[in-house]
Amino acid sequence: MLPSLLALTLLAATTTSHCTRPQLTEAVTSYLTAQTLGDPTDFSSRFDNSTWLGYHENAIKLINLNSSILNTPLPITHNRSLYDTTSCATYTEVIVNSTTTPYVIGTQLRYANHKINKVDSVVTKPGDWLFNITGYAYWVTQENWDTIPEEKRDTRDTIMKAADAYLDLFNNSDVTVPWGTPCVRLEGGLYGDPGPNGTCAVGVPTGVPLTNRRYVIDETVGAVDVLLDFGNSKWPDSHEFRVEGGRLRYVHTMTHCGVPNCGLSLRKFR
Ligand SMILES: *[C@@H]1O[C@H](CO)[C@@H](O)[C@H](O)[C@H]1NC(C)=O
Ligand SMILES: *[C@@H]1O[C@H](CO)[C@@H](O)[C@H](O)[C@H]1NC(C)=O
Ligand SMILES: *[C@@H]1O[C@H](CO)[C@@H](O)[C@H](O)[C@H]1NC(C)=O
Ligand SMILES: *[C@@H]1O[C@H](CO)[C@@H](O)[C@H](O)[C@H]1NC(C)=O
Ligand SMILES: *[C@@H]1O[C@H](CO)[C@@H](O)[C@H](O)[C@H]1NC(C)=O
Ligand SMILES: *[C@@H]1O[C@H](CO)[C@@H](O)[C@H](O)[C@H]1NC(C)=O
Ligand SMILES: *[C@@H]1O[C@H](CO)[C@@H](O)[C@H](O)[C@H]1NC(C)=O
Repeated sequence: MLPSLLALTLLAATTTSHCTRPQLTEAVTSYLTAQTLGDPTDFSSRFDNSTWLGYHENAIKLINLNSSILNTPLPITHNRSLYDTTSCATYTEVIVNSTTTPYVIGTQLRYANHKINKVDSVVTKPGDWLFNITGYAYWVTQENWDTIPEEKRDTRDTIMKAADAYLDLFNNSDVTVPWGTPCVRLEGGLYGDPGPNGTCAVGVPTGVPLTNRRYVIDETVGAVDVLLDFGNSKWPDSHEFRVEGGRLRYVHTMTHCGVPNCGLSLRKFR
């Protein structure tokens, strides 16, 4: 018992000391360069092939990166990343505000042995849930995702629980969610009330399970991204949250459904 506990503790210690922000930043830069150039060669030289968990794009595992979005050069106009030095993972929000090749992409990278061992992306474009590139590109510039002073930071646990409460609400209306005021949601390109009384506590359905959650948490900016399977159709989805003082401040969602507006004429919530 004791030796295995000791081994676990040591393992935890070595795992957490394995990645630093600069290392994670370098990997994200390589990812962005690959997407900008439409050439994943240098990016894939950073893969740890011995622990490789795959390249996933809208929940499809691709063997050949030549058929991935990374093979298309995209003029990225905005990017913002979360760095999880505890789990050795990153999340990057990518916007391509273009009239010809508009995209909003959410990508999680995971690491082992100082190298990338998983790529997991939600790729959205016109036709996906509430997609509106001018809306998405504009509203992100109006928000503050800056570093939070150390004495005001929430713990990993608080940030993760706030996200889980929101996501659990979709399947269980009894859940108590730490709504902030204001709180505003950006969905595909549609924005909520950006004013001082803005609330995110509207338009959440029931009976929609959000499963297979994969987290990237960055306490320095109070944020978490969760990639998940949305509802019974299991649409590839990203939900990113900014938490301030334990309460939800911003929610960004992107949902790929493959059929225009996910086959719904109105909000998927109502
Ligand atoms: C991992 O495998 C891929 C595909 O075979 C290759 O392109 C890449 O260079 C390899 N990476 C390393 C670090 O060996
Ligand atoms: C992928 O693309 C690279 C560069 O264009 C090429 O050298 C390579 O043969 C391609 N691989 C496959 C499996 O098609
Ligand atoms: C990503 O964002 C950073 C800072 O916000 C910027 O310096 C960098 O040039 C951007 N990268 C790309 C590929 O747009
Ligand atoms: C897209 O968003 C912009 C900015 O919020 C808005 O002016 C425009 O009406 C939206 N377009 C559609 C089709 O909803
Ligand atoms: C996005 O692109 C549109 C059309 O090219 C442009 O009018 C708009 O100002 C851009 N938005 C941002 C936030 O740069
Ligand atoms: C916000 O709510 C307060 C209290 O109900 C109210 O006095 C104020 O006018 C509201 N502000 C806006 C911009 O709606
Ligand atoms: C969703 O709620 C139903 C009914 O309460 C429950 O049976 C099911 O296990 C829940 N699913 C998830 C993924 O939580």
